[in-house]
This record gives sequence, structure tokens and C-alpha cells, in this order.
Amino acid sequence: MNVEERLERLRQEAAHCRACPLWAAATQTVFGEGPADAAIVFVGEQPGDQEDKMGRPFVGPAGRLFDRALAEAGLDRSRVYVTNAVKHFKFTERGKRRLHKRPNAGEIRICRRWLFDEITTLAPRVVVALGATAAQSLAERPLPIGVNRGKIVELRNGLRIFATVHPSYLLRVPDEAAKAAEYDHFVKDLRAVRQLSGEIVKTRAGEPDSPPDRRGTKAGRERLRRSA
Ligand code: URA
Repeated sequence: MNVEERLERLRQEAAHCRACPLWAAATQTVFGEGPADAAIVFVGEQPGDQEDKMGRPFVGPAGRLFDRALAEAGLDRSRVYVTNAVKHFKFTERGKRRLHKRPNAGEIRICRRWLFDEITTLAPRVVVALGATAAQSLAERPLPIGVNRGKIVELRNGLRIFATVHPSYLLRVPDEAAKAAEYDHFVKDLRAVRQLSGEIVKTRAGEPDSPPDRRGTKAGRERLRRSA
């Protein structure tokens, strides 16, 4: 089976996951999406209201902000793989609204098998934790974003990740000037990710600006496979 077929099989298996209670209230499992040869895997927290309805990750307000920041950093969303630590939407109902509720440690742990299967299958060059839940899932323990942000962190389980904030954090910054500064910082992080990935991107002038090595070394992929 090739990578695409293995991902598809995982997606179908995850669609029937009942390993924690979150499936019951959610519309569907929201599995990751992106090309099988993606050099970068971005990991968010869990699907939100719109993602739950559409069955696709990062398509709501945080997703639109994420897309804009990716483009500004010179990354093409269609060339990266985007997924979540937890694959079902967790929420409380407030009238007609469904309000996001943070997944707990048990839910993160139970859902980790899907995330690690995705990463092992894809063997990307860079895995990016978007926020604390993703970092906790990848590290298998709480990992504060503040001190680990903007650099490669070697985890005890052998994974190497890049940590940054979650795009929905940027939406919540109340002060406009601070919001703009936080957004710029996020774009700077994404540029660093792009450099680490060696992703081929077009510059504004339309020239490729990095070498055509997107998948990392064979040894690196093996290491990831063994550790995940
Ligand atoms: N927030 C996430 O963490 N993931 C999504 O898919 C959407 C919003």
C-alpha cells in the first residue's frame, strides 16, 4: 500500500472511532487532510463548529486566519498536511450555539493513536504543534508553548517538533496593536517552519527559492517512523 492508500485506510477506520465519548455528540470524525508527500504536518487542537459540519480541519475563522498567515509566510495550504490532536468536536450547547470545550488529557491520549499513525505514515520533515493541546499530544505530557516556541524541540519520545501558538489565540487578542504584533510573530514562526521544511515555494516573483528536497533524509524518515 502506498502512503495515500494507507492514509485513506486510516481515515476510514477513524470515521468509526468510538474510543472516547466525544463521537456521540459530534457530527463526524474530522481527519487530517493534505498531500501524501507533504513535508510539513500542522497539528491543531480539535475541529470547531464549522469543521464538525464540513468534515474538514481548519475551515472556520481560525482556519481562514491560518490560511492567510501560511500564504504570507510563502506556504501553500494545498502543499501541507493539516490535522488535529483530537478528531471530534467537543462542545457545550448554549441555546442554538455550540461552544468549544477544550479536550481533556484522557481524550487527548486516546486520540493520539490517530495522530501518531498519520505522522508515521506521512513521515514529514517538520511536525508543527499549533498550541498547547497539540504540543501535549505530541509530547505525551504537558509542554508549555511560551518557552518552546519558535524552535525545534526534541521530545523524549524521539519526535522533533516545532511549537507555536494556535491561530484562534490570535483571534482572541483584544487590543488591535497587540493582535497585529502577535499575527506578525506567528507569520515569522511559519517562515521558520518553511525554511526548516525545505519546501519548494514560489517567491512573489515566481521563482523557486529553496532546493527540491521536500521529504528529508531516508534516515530521518526512519527515525520518525520508529519513534512515532
Ligand atoms: N481549531 C483547531 O484546532 N482545529 C480546527 O480544525 C479548527 C479550529
